[in-house]
Amino acid sequence: MTDLKSFDKKLTDGESGSLKKSKKKQKKEDAWRSEGPRDPFAMLDSLPEKKQQEIQKALHLFSVGQSLPKTLQDAKQHTYHFWDTQPVPKLGDSIMTQGPVAEAEISVRNEPYSLPQGFSWDTPDLSSPPVLRELCNLLNENYIEDDDNTIRFDFSLEYLQWALQPPNWLPQWHLGVRVEGNKKLVGFIAAVPAEVCIYETKKRLVQVKFLCVHKKLRLKRMTPVLIRELTRRVNQQGLYQAMYTAGTVLPTPLSSCSLWHRPLNPRKLIEVNFPGLRQNMSLQRALKFNRLPKVTKVQGLRCMIKEDAPGILSLLQENRSKFHLSPLLSLQEVEHWFLPRESGNDTYVVEQDGGTLTGVVSFYSISFKVLNHPVHTSLRAAYLFYVASTATELAELMEDTLVLAKSKGFDILCALDVMDNTSFLEKLKFTISDKRVHYYLYNWMCPLMSPDKVGLVLPN
Ligand SMILES: CC(C)(COP(=O)(O)OP(=O)(O)OC[C@H]1O[C@@H](n2cnc3c(N)ncnc32)[C@H](O)[C@@H]1OP(=O)(O)O)[C@@H](O)C(=O)NCCC(=O)NCCS
Repeated sequence: MTDLKSFDKKLTDGESGSLKKSKKKQKKEDAWRSEGPRDPFAMLDSLPEKKQQEIQKALHLFSVGQSLPKTLQDAKQHTYHFWDTQPVPKLGDSIMTQGPVAEAEISVRNEPYSLPQGFSWDTPDLSSPPVLRELCNLLNENYIEDDDNTIRFDFSLEYLQWALQPPNWLPQWHLGVRVEGNKKLVGFIAAVPAEVCIYETKKRLVQVKFLCVHKKLRLKRMTPVLIRELTRRVNQQGLYQAMYTAGTVLPTPLSSCSLWHRPLNPRKLIEVNFPGLRQNMSLQRALKFNRLPKVTKVQGLRCMIKEDAPGILSLLQENRSKFHLSPLLSLQEVEHWFLPRESGNDTYVVEQDGGTLTGVVSFYSISFKVLNHPVHTSLRAAYLFYVASTATELAELMEDTLVLAKSKGFDILCALDVMDNTSFLEKLKFTISDKRVHYYLYNWMCPLMSPDKVGLVLPN
């Protein structure tokens, strides 16, 4: 791996002299730091994969002081060198007003932010299969793992295309960092266009996703440079707000939600020691406890087809008034996000006699690699994306969704406690995990909201 030699020298180029001075200290803090004499991770390179995993696990266990806060309480003791310079509300502020944190700049800088010598910006061309595979590998090898290091994301190429290429996506918002010498992709962040309703304000913004830095380049402050450059590219298109989620606490969560799990294949989950399962339950008991009906019950439930998009859009619009944060989708976007696709997502609708749609439920799928297991190598998880119903009880529709997901070979269904989901989570034997998903808005302040007022899920 190439050593990092210098930092983003031109970070403040194009800004006024006084601003330059006042940002000197911050520039230092944001530095994508130069390396010492030897990258310690290089020494691990020659070790077998299994050994590396053991060491990573040990590092994880002993790295409490380095990781970002997971709770609001801890976050209040943490110094955010980068985020404190960004237009986001400060932790602990009580916000009663609504609007941008900082006014839009009159001119957006034209030159990209500088990278240390030996690295360059790249916009990976996702229409090229080898490039898409390369991005997939970066994410699968470096994206979040569970704390136990037993499972790892295994995004498919189709999933990445679905998540990164919705209508009106822009290539320059797929932002990569490559090592100049060997062209290796070592960093990535992306934005896709979206429109949402925040309280009563309709806002065009971007959704930021797939922030990832290669494991060997962690803690060198590449993230602030990625975020600044993406922000510049988004600003260039006249957009100044973003939304994103993270498992860690940053300044400042708009809402903090919990992830719930519903086992569909308890035997396999127990065998792979899936984190967050109900403890103290024997296999027999777990099988009985999680048993599901063999067939679905809701009349008129069927797979979505393209012609259902207008009906789904109406259901979404009807549902919107219940939430403080909700999606504003075009017909084209409904088709993109909801139409079932192989190894991407599944959507079912409830059609009444006469053809009116009274319900929709959609989930997207993510596979995981199971590491170091003698029998199992993969795990399939379904993530609840959207559910709305005007006639059938949500719990009934969701029970059928569990039946369908199981019949399609999913091992687990995951859902956040957003929207009206608490009305069925416990009833349908979901268990709360210790994973939190915090929702954030960039450059927008408004009163914080409880999870049941969040009307959207942001796929990775
Ligand atoms: C998240 C990740 C990119 C952070 O990289 P890192 O090397 O630990 O951090 P860096 O040294 O580059 O940058 C540190 C800064 O980034 C911020 N940061 C870290 N994770 C962040 C996140 N998920 N979103 C936004 N900012 C984040 C930190 O708060 C810190 O800024 P601060 O000084 O204001 O606290 C890296 O850990 C990674 O790739 N993880 C796996 C993928 C992942 O979890 N992505 C995030 C999904 S939400």
